[in-house]
Amino acid sequence: MSQSPPVLLSAQQISARVTELAEGISRDYAGRQLALVCVLRGAAIFLADLVRALQVPATVDFLAVSSYGRSTVSSGFVRITKDLEDSIQGKDVLVVEDILDSGRTLQFILETLKLRGPRSLRVCVLLDKPSRRAVELKAHYVGFTIPDLFVVGYGLDWAGRYRNLPYVGILPCEQEGCEQ
Ligand code: IMP
Ligand code: MG
Repeated sequence: MSQSPPVLLSAQQISARVTELAEGISRDYAGRQLALVCVLRGAAIFLADLVRALQVPATVDFLAVSSYGRSTVSSGFVRITKDLEDSIQGKDVLVVEDILDSGRTLQFILETLKLRGPRSLRVCVLLDKPSRRAVELKAHYVGFTIPDLFVVGYGLDWAGRYRNLPYVGILPCEQEGCEQ
């Protein structure tokens, strides 16, 4: 099998940054209750660490959207494949996503959720690749800004693989379908 992806962000770096993010979020939402919306499947591991580091009450719900499939290039086509269980009307919603790349996925999610009347709507992403942005979109909370590399691990996959790596690594380019 292939070798391990080279490390971009170590488990220790991620853990320290998730703690910082949670502290900032907890300060901003002090006295309120957060409705976290985790975008499946890539953000599940980030969500699990983030929610445990928060110091404000938080509910958790999950949304799944269509994504890249086996390719590393965005099709720009997004649809909901698993909707939220709970209403978000009147709630302070924080969307938790793994990575902001072209921005099309999050733009679609935000437009969709806005129509449901949340009290507030913000975004927290672990990773941001601003050089790849195709739509104008900024996340309120960003773990790490990274260069234009295809990354895997800590929830992020390539063709369903590598989600269980405890760190964020760079996809080895000898992989079939790697277009870097
Ligand atoms: P966007 O719509 O182009 O912003 O893409 C966002 C989605 O694409 C993310 O939720 C990921 O599922 C996927 N994605 C984008 N870049 C990467 C990457 O480097 N590694 C793994 N998945 C990625
Ligand atoms: Mg994703």
